[in-house]
Amino acid sequence: MVKFAKLSYDGKSVEFPLVEGTEDELAIDIKSLRAATNLITLDPGFKNTGSCQSAITFLDGEKGVLRYRGYDIEDLAKNADFLEVAFLLIFGELPTSEQLDKFLVDIKEESYIDEDLKKILESFPSAAHPMGVLSSLTSALTAFNPKTFDVESEDEMYRAIVRIMGKLPVLVAWVFRKKSGLPLKYGDYALGYVENIARMMFRKPNKEYVANPIIDQALNKLLILHAEHEQNCSTSTVRIVGSSHAGLFASVAAGISALWGPLHGGANQAVVEMLEDIRKDGGDIDKYMIKAKDKSDPFRLMGFGHRVYKNFDPRARIIKKAANEVLENLGIVDPVLEIAKKLEQAALNDPYFADRKLYPNVDFYSGIIYRAMGISTETFTVMFALGRLPGWIAQWREMRLNKEPIGRPRQIYVGQNQRPFVPLNKR
Ligand code: SDX
Repeated sequence: MVKFAKLSYDGKSVEFPLVEGTEDELAIDIKSLRAATNLITLDPGFKNTGSCQSAITFLDGEKGVLRYRGYDIEDLAKNADFLEVAFLLIFGELPTSEQLDKFLVDIKEESYIDEDLKKILESFPSAAHPMGVLSSLTSALTAFNPKTFDVESEDEMYRAIVRIMGKLPVLVAWVFRKKSGLPLKYGDYALGYVENIARMMFRKPNKEYVANPIIDQALNKLLILHAEHEQNCSTSTVRIVGSSHAGLFASVAAGISALWGPLHGGANQAVVEMLEDIRKDGGDIDKYMIKAKDKSDPFRLMGFGHRVYKNFDPRARIIKKAANEVLENLGIVDPVLEIAKKLEQAALNDPYFADRKLYPNVDFYSGIIYRAMGISTETFTVMFALGRLPGWIAQWREMRLNKEPIGRPRQIYVGQNQRPFVPLNKR
């Protein structure tokens, strides 16, 4: 039975149907609001506004629950391979071994980059931020794959999907290698998806590459944990760019740019820079806790807080455990890990953070693992983008298959009222 919400305004009352999700979430369907009342809603940052109905990810921010297509993130991080999670997110079900094999082969067939695109990469200054380079190259992929632009059929979408699943890891590896001063190399067709990413990134030009299972397993887990997160800033960007039918590559390129910001995916870089600053400043945790709470100080505790999670980010718990294991297995002692743990403890016991329900998020410990892998701080967010790719693809595909309208929000105008033009000689 459909439930309704009643809005009373100016002596009138109008009812709007409620939409109920499969996890008992409720929303007011206001599609008819402006026509019925000439009113619109106003919600900066969309903190109370749903943009779509989606079957991909369920988040419960109060309970710290995250599920991809109904599977708990803890189960997937422990048991799954990143490519099967990508298949699950994009197509809705865990793949059979035949489906997974075909998906991997179709992706491998696309795992190369047009040589002219390599020239674009080589033209960037070495100091260029890897996220800006990656976004530019991803957008440039459309120029070399014009058929992936305004795709309509599921088959055309599938072709675009395997193309970007094949090409983005090469771009990520090359952006990382260019930043590291290494020659741009391909991987090994015989390897699995994640193993090949590690090989493309870490192989040295002067010796045979020997895979490190610790690195491969940590990378697999990190990519799964970053793969999807419902309507976050970058995913919403992918959806709204895709809603104009600008194509998958252009939509993902826009998502990469949105993810770059330090309030979003760029936080993993900002966290390690913050921890390094604290270490260089003598490790005075209390001093930085005071700064984080001081409204006159722009300093924020990066890697803390979340728009949706008002409890622990379940991914942060898993990554914190993995950080300990990876550093121990690699025999690395990283002083910033200890500073991170002390900062976490101080914040969890501080009323300012407890009252605002500010807990460590996915970005708080991830950079410590990337660092242990030998990934440069500026390239951390590129790894986040690589993980988030299947989520962006899944959301883009769902939006296109649902034939959702072009995204075009309204506004309340607060500028000048009508006024006559003033000629230059009279101003
Ligand atoms: C990601 O949305 C997603 O799902 C994102 C993500 C994903 O997987 O896609 O999970 C990935 O982006 C994680 C978030 C990474 N960002 C950071 O770690 C940057 C630091 N965190 C914040 O800037 C902040 O917490 C946000 C941006 C994450 C959330 O901001 P909101 O929801 O807009 O909350 P807010 O800024 O209104 O803060 C509420 C209060 C404010 O204080 P009061 O005005 O109530 O006194 O909490 C304070 C804020 O000042 N606050 C912080 C803080 N975060 C919030 N104070 C100090 N340090 C912080 N980190």
